[in-house]
Order: sequence, then C-alpha cells, then structure tokens
Amino acid sequence: MTRFSTRTGRNLEPNGLAVELARRRVSGAPLVDLTVSNPTAAGIAYPTERIAAALALTAGAVYRPDARGLYRVREAVSADYARRGASVSPERIMLTASTSESYAFLFKLLCDPGDSVLVPVPSYPLFEHLATLECVEAVPYPLVYHGSWRLDLEALARAIDARCRAVIVVNPNNPTGSFLLPEELERLSALAERHGLAIVADEVFASYDWSGARDLVHELTGDLPALTFCLGGLSKAAGLPQMKLGWMVTGGPAPLVEAALRRLELVADTFLSVGTPVQEAAPALLEAGAEIRGRIAERCLANLRALPELMRGHPACEVLPVEGGWSCVLRLPRTCGDEERVLELVREDGVLVHPGYFFDFADEGYVVASLLTNPTAFRDGIGRVLARAGSGC
Ligand SMILES: Cc1ncc(COP(=O)(O)O)c(C=O)c1O
Repeated sequence: MTRFSTRTGRNLEPNGLAVELARRRVSGAPLVDLTVSNPTAAGIAYPTERIAAALALTAGAVYRPDARGLYRVREAVSADYARRGASVSPERIMLTASTSESYAFLFKLLCDPGDSVLVPVPSYPLFEHLATLECVEAVPYPLVYHGSWRLDLEALARAIDARCRAVIVVNPNNPTGSFLLPEELERLSALAERHGLAIVADEVFASYDWSGARDLVHELTGDLPALTFCLGGLSKAAGLPQMKLGWMVTGGPAPLVEAALRRLELVADTFLSVGTPVQEAAPALLEAGAEIRGRIAERCLANLRALPELMRGHPACEVLPVEGGWSCVLRLPRTCGDEERVLELVREDGVLVHPGYFFDFADEGYVVASLLTNPTAFRDGIGRVLARAGSGC
C-alpha cells in the first residue's frame, strides 16, 4: 500500500472553534473578527498607484537567476537596514520567497533529521509545523511575564541537549509584543556560543515599535559571538504579504558566516524560488513600504490608544504592555476555560479572538486581539470580550 511521510501526518480535523466559526458563517450572522493578521484585508488604504508602477517595471524582465537574490535588491534591503540604523553588507543578505522559506532553508542548513531547535512560547504557532516538515523537533523554552515578557534563560539553558542546533527568538515577539533587552541578548548570545548553537532572530515586526525611547534590542545584525541569522520580509516590513519576498542576514564569526552562506547558496540554488518580477519591483516596493508602514502604525496606535478607556470599569481584566508588533494580549479572570470562552464569544457575542492556547500560553486566561482591526470594530469587539468576562466567562 502507498504510504505517506509522518511529517505530513498532522491532524487536519477542524477544532471546536473552526466548527463554530463555520456554523456562524453558514448562518449568515455577523462576526466581529479581532484576529485579522493580513494587512491587505484590514481596510488599510494602500498606495496602489505606487505599487502598480513598481510592478510595471518588471514587464519584459530577463530571467537571470542568482541563488542569493539579485545584487541590487540585496543593496536595497541593505539600505532598508540603514534606515533602521544597522549596517549590513549586501554580501551577507540572501533573498527568499518568505520568512517561512527562510526557516525551512535554515533548518536544512543547520539540522539533520531528529535534531532540534529551541522555540519560544508563547509565540508564533507555525514553528512546530515548519520544523516537523524538515524532520526537526521544535523544543519549547518559556517567556515569562513579570510586568513585561522576558526570556527564561535558565529554562532555555536546561532545554539544550546534544541534538540542539539553534535557538529562535522573535523580536518583537508575536503575540506578546516584547523586544529583547540588551542584557538578555548578551546572555543569550554567550549561551549560544558556549553550546555551538546558531541564533535565528525573527525580526519581521521590528519596524513596529510602540515603546518610545526605551533601550530595547531592535535587530541582531551586529557582531555577535554566535552564528546569527536575522529574518525579515516585505510581508510585515512593507505590509505586502502577497508579494512573497523575504530575506535573511547572516552574522557572527567570519569563517562561520562564509561557510553558512556557501551552504545556503547551495540550498537556494536547488529551488531558485524567488520570482524575478518581485525582485525587479522590490527596491520601489521597499520605498513604498514607508508609506504603508505609516498607515499600519496609525491603525495599531489608534487601537492601542483606545484600550485604557475600554478597560475602565473592568478592574479584573488587564491589557499587558505592548512594546511592538500587531497584537495585544488581554489577561482575563480565569472563571472559565479558554476554549469555552472563545466558543461562547463566537456563539453568544459574535466576536472572534485568538485564545491564548493558540500561541501556547502556559496558563489559561489570555486572549489575543489584532491591532490591525478596524478601530470601530476593535472597540466594539473588545467591549464584548470584557462584558463577557464581567459576566463570568
Ligand atoms: C513572527 C512571525 N514570523 C514570520 C511570519 C510570516 O512571515 P512571511 O509572510 O514572510 O512568511 C509571521 C506571520 O504572521 C510571524 O508572525
């Protein structure tokens, strides 16, 4: 009998929330969706003429594949890092079709089947799937909340074993919105160097900093003692997920950087997955990105500013501080389980939020809302979540 691989054997049965949502959609009842993470579907005005002009440049482009990505595009990405105050040579930049593809390439580079990578929790839920598809194990390490979210570096150190190849940090983290502190980075990179681990820094939200002038780490492209890969892409940095262009910057000790780039080139050359049109358009899209980022920032900040007023009168509920990114986390009384709460919210209140377990929060009582939501819907939806929490769930 034909057999399939175990790595594609994930349970595809819809969960309780998906079933409830499908039921609601069929019934035609309205739903306030506080989980929109796609900026192109969030009613944000895009500079469509600039985007069209950028794409028009690609008509008639000649196919000249370069496994690392066209050099002038890497120069444009380098210039984008300069905007953020980081000096990154185009030689250290490689283009990919998305951040997900960057992860897949890095797991191929660093891991043999059965090796592991350390992943933060709570965080981006795709890590486990990305790792499984490469026959790699995603081993969690915790972020802990004491007024702000910090890496639990002791627990991280305990999770390292002989099969561990890399540690992933998401900076700022999704959904907690927390950036690394300089002292955390120092300890993390010393730990990584001591154990021969690579650091993979997911910086897709790094341009979205709501913290003001605080001393936070915004990117890991500097001279760290461990081999380091910083991931970014048009998806978040320019609010253009449909373009499918990501990048990674390799840093650390020079011999390791050189060896890693040579091997990554081999991986990328096997697929040559980044389309020529998006590369031709990328420098202009990166420029248009400033305008799009501005609109996204306006949206996120409008929703963040609405929160204190919305929370008034709900002393048992709390919005956790948001340093950056596109989400906010609400801590609610643990009067009912997360699953029951989100199901009730859809069924009874017509509002959808992400339950904390979606991001592997260690405790119950957390829900996550997207700051990309239309501000009227955001106020309405958060109001309904808080009202239900007040009524016992
Ligand atoms: C932390 C994080 N990394 C990566 C991605 C995906 O990026 P891309 O669209 O470039 O694959 C997301 C998407 O939400 C994310 O939250």
